[in-house]
Amino acid sequence: MEGARDTGVPGIEADCGGACACSSCHVDVAQDWLERLTPPQPGEADMLDFACSPDPARSRLSCQIRVTPALDGLVVHLPERQI
Ligand code: FES
Repeated sequence: MEGARDTGVPGIEADCGGACACSSCHVDVAQDWLERLTPPQPGEADMLDFACSPDPARSRLSCQIRVTPALDGLVVHLPERQI
């Protein structure tokens, strides 16, 4: 989320600033990358219920994705709208 926000990627609103309290940073992770991410914690999964049309298999809150070198090239897709 911070990387997208800081580089001006449109569609990542991040209203709560990364506190896992708004779901306006919702993204859908490309299928090929799903196994490389740690699973969502319960709080993230609960907050995704408030996202716009979340995909239970691929949706994540981008503020909860800890970026590491192993995620270099991570592909995510933005929903049509947030919340
Ligand atoms: S920025 Fe609010 S939940 Fe991610």
